Amino acid sequence: MKNILILGANSAMARALARQAASPNTQLVLAGRHVKEMEKTAADLGVRSNGPKPGVLAFDAQAMETHEKFWQQVLAKFQVIDEVYVFFGQMHPQVESQRDFRLAEEMLVTNYVGAVSILEKIAATMEARKAGLIVGVSSVAGDRGRRSNYLYGSSKAGLNSFLSGLRNRLVPAGVHVMTVKPGFVDTPMTADLKKGILYAKPEAVARGILKAAARRKDEVYLPFFWRWIMLIIIHIPEGVFKKLKL
Ligand SMILES: NC(=O)c1ccc[n+]([C@@H]2O[C@H](COP(=O)([O-])OP(=O)(O)OC[C@H]3O[C@@H](n4cnc5c(N)ncnc54)[C@H](OP(=O)(O)O)[C@@H]3O)[C@@H](O)[C@H]2O)c1
Repeated sequence: MKNILILGANSAMARALARQAASPNTQLVLAGRHVKEMEKTAADLGVRSNGPKPGVLAFDAQAMETHEKFWQQVLAKFQVIDEVYVFFGQMHPQVESQRDFRLAEEMLVTNYVGAVSILEKIAATMEARKAGLIVGVSSVAGDRGRRSNYLYGSSKAGLNSFLSGLRNRLVPAGVHVMTVKPGFVDTPMTADLKKGILYAKPEAVARGILKAAARRKDEVYLPFFWRWIMLIIIHIPEGVFKKLKL
């Protein structure tokens, strides 16, 4: 039996991944803010997969004082977590976040500080056990600060750097850390944005995450073409970049 913890389990991408990962040999543990929603998902997944009913636990990335208790609760109930997928995240519009620091703070705390808080605890357990997989869902927005979303982007840049260091630290313990960088995905997070051809479906991104995780990739852009788009963007000289309205 493989035990998989999903943090931010109400996210559209997380739900898609849970549906794809559910199997008779997988114990899913769904954790997030809206317990009733997750219970509905868990009941549905239990029936569809013919497997164990997923566990459901309340988890708030911002309530960092609760993280140790949360993690101990997970271990008490499921003993071992083999894989953890971090999906929670906040994205507020850039201009509103410039005007109201509380919005910027919410993104920075949830996407970066909250992720560091819970992952440090999980990492310590996996390191001692000498086994495990940690998957952090970041964003292409973390690759280079752009005027149109640098407050969100910088929270993901912090997460990228954290995951990179954690990956390095956990190599001797045989614990793998993978960074996921999706481009635009059609989910509630982007509900108010105009959709174009670059938008991917959450199911396709979830499939890509599971495939890359099985191959123990260090970093994956999803869909794949974002690697090439971002390669161009990060190499634009700063003098030129300053003049672009990206
Ligand atoms: N959609 C995109 O274009 C895109 C692109 C690149 C990266 N991403 C990243 O992909 C991840 C998944 O997002 P999504 O697109 O699937 O959007 P989504 O459906 O809006 O999911 C975001 C999830 O984060 C949860 N969350 C927010 N604050 C939280 C907190 N303090 N504690 C626990 N959970 C919290 C939300 O929970 P509630 O349901 O309780 O609000 C929601 O379920 C995010 O990290 C996002 O930054 C998204």
